[in-house]
Parts: sequence; C-alpha cells; structure tokens
Amino acid sequence: MGLNYYHILKKVREARKLVIKGTTAAGSGHPGGSFSMAEFIGCIFFKFLRYDPKNPMWEDRDRFVLSKGHASPGLFSNLAVAGYFDKSEIETLRKFESRLQGHPDYKCPGVEFCGGSLGIGLSFSIGMALAARIDGKAHRIYTIIGDGESDEGQVWEAAMSASKYKLDNLTVFLDRNFIQQDDYTERVMPLDEELVGDDISEMWKNAARWKTGDKWRSFGWNVLEIDGHRIEQIIKATRSAQQTKGTPSIIVARTIKGKDVEHMEDNPKWHGVAPNPKIAPIIDLELDCQFLIAPSIIAGDMTNLGNEVKRAAQGRADFIHLDVMDGLFVPNKTFDHTKIKELRPITPIPFDSHLMINDPVKHIRDYVEAGSDIITVHAEICDESSFGEIHDILRSNEVSVGLAINPDTELPQWADKFISDLDQLILMSVVPGKSGQKYIESSHEKTQRIVKILAEKKFSGFIEADGGVDLSNVEYCFLDGARVFVGGSAIIGQKDVRVTIAEFRRKILHARRKLLIQKAHNLGGPELVNKWIDLHEVGKKKSELIQLAKEADFV
Ligand code: DX5
Ligand code: ZN
Repeated sequence: MGLNYYHILKKVREARKLVIKGTTAAGSGHPGGSFSMAEFIGCIFFKFLRYDPKNPMWEDRDRFVLSKGHASPGLFSNLAVAGYFDKSEIETLRKFESRLQGHPDYKCPGVEFCGGSLGIGLSFSIGMALAARIDGKAHRIYTIIGDGESDEGQVWEAAMSASKYKLDNLTVFLDRNFIQQDDYTERVMPLDEELVGDDISEMWKNAARWKTGDKWRSFGWNVLEIDGHRIEQIIKATRSAQQTKGTPSIIVARTIKGKDVEHMEDNPKWHGVAPNPKIAPIIDLELDCQFLIAPSIIAGDMTNLGNEVKRAAQGRADFIHLDVMDGLFVPNKTFDHTKIKELRPITPIPFDSHLMINDPVKHIRDYVEAGSDIITVHAEICDESSFGEIHDILRSNEVSVGLAINPDTELPQWADKFISDLDQLILMSVVPGKSGQKYIESSHEKTQRIVKILAEKKFSGFIEADGGVDLSNVEYCFLDGARVFVGGSAIIGQKDVRVTIAEFRRKILHARRKLLIQKAHNLGGPELVNKWIDLHEVGKKKSELIQLAKEADFV
C-alpha cells in the first residue's frame, strides 16, 4: 500500500486555505497552531481515522480528540474537507449561532471533545480508550496535544495513567512547535532546555538537545520522534504506533508554527492573530506555491544505486525519482521493479517511479508491489482504456497517479477525462532516455501554455519538470508553473547533494517571493507590497524582500 502522498498533500493544502478563509472572515482565531499540526492532522483524517461524515456518531468510528482546542480552525477545516459539512461554512467561524466556534463544540458534527481549557484532552482520551477496551471495541483514539499545553500538570498525571493501564489503542501527537501564547515554550517552561537568545532554529538543528521524548519514555510510553511536516515520517510513525502492544504511543512531532506561510513561520505573534483581508489572497497564492525536489538517482553510480538513494535522503530530498527504462520505449535500459523493491527499505521518502516502458498496464502491479508511492506512465503509449485501468489500480493501492508527456507531445484528448483527478503531470524537457542532457528551451513556453489548459480543466495536481533542470533554470521552471523539480546531473551528479538541494530550494524560494511581491503589487500597489514585506519579522527574509521589491521598482 502506497502513502497516498499527493492525496494527503492536496487535502492538507485545501485545509490550510480554509483556515485562512475562516480566520480572515472572523477577524480572529489561531492560524499558527492550526498550521503546525496541519500535516499530521491531515494524515490522521485522510490516512488513518475511520469515520463516516454522514453518520458522525457511528459506534465503531475511531475517535479524534483535539486537546489544544484553540487550534479549532485546523480541526474545522479538516472536518469540512472530510465532508462533515459544506466548506463554505468555514466563513461562519466564531460568529453568533455558528457551529464553528473559537474552540470545538459538540454542536459541530465530528467534534468529539470540547477543548477549551488546556490539559484535559489526554485524560478524556484515556477514558475513551478504557471504555473501548471494556466494551471490546477495536476502534482507536487519536489525540493531539500542544507543547504549551504540556505546562499543565494534568497532562503528566494522564501520562502516568495511560501507561499504567497499558492503553495501546491510544496514539497521541505532541505538536512540538516551540511557541505558546506569550512566548517560546523554552522560555516560559522549557520541555527540552531553557532558550538563551531568540533563535529556536538552533533547537531544531541539534537533536542532542531534545529531551521531551525522554520525559515521555520515562513515563513508560512508546515514543516516536519525527519531523512533523513530512508525511512519510508521520505515516511510518503512526503505523508503528498502531502495531505497538502493551503501551500507549506518543509521536513527538517537531513542527514550525505558522508553517507554509513565510511571515507566520516561527513568529510567536501568529499564535492567535487573524490575517488582514488584504493580505489573505497573497497567502492563498503562497499556499498554492509549495514545491518539491526529486533527485533522479540514475545520474549517479548505477552500480551502487543504494548509495545514491542514501545521498538523496541525507540531502533531505522530498522524493526519490526513479527512472525506469526498458530499452523499448526508450533505447536505454536502467532497472525494473526488482531494483525498486531492493531499494525500498533504505528510506521512507516517497518513491516517484517514472516508467519509460512499453505496455505499462501489463507491469503496473509489479511497480505498486515494489513500493512506489507515485507512478507516472507516458501518454504516448497509453489510451483511455489502458490509462483508466492503470488509474484504478493505483488509486485502489493508495499510489498517486502521474501522466508524462515528451517534449514533442501534446496532452491527448483522452486525458481530459482524467485531468481533474490527476496527481502529477510530468512535462519532459529533454527527450527521455538519459540524464545529463540540455534543457530544451521551448519547454518554458510549453509549460506556461499547458498550465493554462490545465487550469480550465480543473487540474489540482502538481507539474513535475523533468530533464535538464539545474540551478540556472529552476527559477524559471517555477515561474512557468512547475512545482516538482527532478534533478539528475544537477543534483545527484554533484558532490554534495545536501548543499545542492538547499541551493535549489533557495533559488525556488527566491522566485516564489518575486511572484508574491508581484501579486501584492497587483492587488494594492506599493502600499500593500510594503505592508506585506513588513510582516516578515523573523529571520533574514525581510532584507531579501526589500531588495526584490526595489529591483521590480515596486517601492
Ligand atoms: C530522462 C529522465 C530524467 C533524467 C533527469 O529520461 O526522465 O529524470 O534522468 O536527469 P537530468 O536532470 O540530468 O536531465
Ligand atoms: Zn524522469
């Protein structure tokens, strides 16, 4: 079973956008803590939790408890995306008579716990877990607690109880974002160690300083420590928690408050403040501009692909791009599903299998079983019927669905039927067959043209630029509309993969900032540009933004 990666990613993006919509309409609320937990609440709702939005009180449903109840926009947005109520209802957030209040309330379908006062949700969850055991029920309880919330003594009393009663049907997520209402947690009441100075990123970088997990371990819990924004790590940890018998599990998820909106990230001010309505459309665009880096391992040592996967993983790649060539669809041969299966245990990072093979429908199951998370097949050798079959096989195995076209191919007519449901479209910018070729310049124009066509056809997936992408053109590829970037020779072919990937990200971020400044200018001229730039208080973002605005003659 694949990760269902893009499916979750798209739901998380949609939920984040609803949080912005709701809090902006309300003029208050808590976006910061809604965004730090966004990926793992998304994985809970769209990968693990069993529920029926049409029958919220279904007896055998899994239970979800949001103990840090002030992050209610984060819960309501997921409930809306899951289908408990219409998404437009989010705009009633915090209004009189609304079912969606500043803290979750039972009048909202899907809410299992009214988390107003902090520190109580874990005890409540223990009651649910014990009740399930006494009733002989198989459902599980998923609970999210906050790190500021962990100042409450009741959390630790509950920690003792859950361990004493060996509640292995309980999985807790600690949203470890290092910020509480008034300040950094490590200044108010350190969970790891006292913060000297203002830079919490120092805490992030040095694993030797993380003590929170040890605290829970000493209380007898199964502790899993992860990067709380990486879907594959969340899924791996949650699966492992489900399989652990005899102890409750806690997933300590290191997160960034306000994640995915640069001016909110790591800024304590955004704990409980709503965006300005004028800024909201810029944030909306920013949320649409997430990007992913996918190193292609065939650009490395073909006799030691395991090592290439490790290099990509150590470099914090988002995907491992696997170019399968069969010597028929393209003249070269690389490897097949047996190699993918052999590489699979090396890392949980999503495997992005790009099949340059004839007759993909015949082999598709092999690539699913080998452990691919995303599979892309070429439009040139498919038709409506074979792609339909491939699509169905992938969906039923929670593998994301991709379609690729060569530089001289247009989107075929039959693809229309699938576009709105497609997760990924690979636009080849070299003639497929080998790495190390030069980027075909006309691909920029083609990408821009296809982006427009896709928008009309309600495409909600990601465009992957593949072939000859490097540091000199990745910014333009981003501005064209690509959001996933394959790098063979420009990443795996380099000595230091980690530094190169960081450089790729820096370039793309630079292009994204340009795009957002442009948006601010279109919406409100220099005044809005300045207003938006001023919001970037933490880190060194502001000076780069001012420079960009000057270059564009906007300020
Ligand atoms: C080409 C492959 C690409 C390629 C990428 O057939 O699909 O993924 O190997 O390598 P570079 O980035 O070197 O073009
Ligand atoms: Zn490829």
